[in-house]
Amino acid sequence: MNRKYRKTVIAGNWKMNQLNSGVKPFIEELKANMPKARNCDVVLCTPAVMIQAMVRAGKDCRVAAGGQDVSKFEKGAYTGEISADMLVDVGAKYCIVGHSERREYHHESDSLVNEKAKALLSRGIVPIICVGESLEQREKELTMSYVAYQVRAALAGIDAAQIRRCIIAYEPIWAIGTGRTATAEQAQEVCSEIRSVIRKLYGARSARAVSILYGGSMNAKNAAELLAMPDIDGGLIGGASLKPVDFAAIVAATAQE
Ligand code: 13P
Repeated sequence: MNRKYRKTVIAGNWKMNQLNSGVKPFIEELKANMPKARNCDVVLCTPAVMIQAMVRAGKDCRVAAGGQDVSKFEKGAYTGEISADMLVDVGAKYCIVGHSERREYHHESDSLVNEKAKALLSRGIVPIICVGESLEQREKELTMSYVAYQVRAALAGIDAAQIRRCIIAYEPIWAIGTGRTATAEQAQEVCSEIRSVIRKLYGARSARAVSILYGGSMNAKNAAELLAMPDIDGGLIGGASLKPVDFAAIVAATAQE
């Protein structure tokens, strides 16, 4: 973390879990376990149908609500899609784009991820842009070049003012939901490379202002070590974000200096 130049962000990704009825009890338990002093932004990205409930309940605990996906289109005949305007309308402040599960199961391309990020920025929502390599790519030592490529593709046409409102999440696919976390050094190495790509594109001042998160089996036990790294500014947390006590402990882990 480097709090001098950028925000620390702890974001949960509930994926396709939970129900509306569970949101308020979750927040109540989270609040009871949350550290009193907090020096980070806390976000929960829920399924779209739970965003309103999260906005309402989250106020009580300074938790912002986020979506998990958005349409690249503004409006119209796109059955099943949710626009950036609709996310604004229900009070979402953040939205994940390019999660590896969407890239894999919904065949989302880098250019689609870029269009979605731009749709969010045009409506003032912070895109949490996910990138990360597969195990095969890591084993072939393609991690750096692939992640750099993904970052460049996701940011195409995004200007210097907008980059400061973006969050990048490095999520190695092999670490997601597997209990196999990247070591702090592995995660730092890639997050640092992501910052250097941003530096080349937008200059040093912009690069040091962008929050870069790590995601992939981050939990209450390993969070502090990952967050101690200079280029890891927070986490994007799946499984552990469904457990209020664990999620609160990850927020508490940001208290270190
Ligand atoms: P896990 O924390 O369950 O590994 O999920 C990470 C993730 O995909 C967050 O977007």
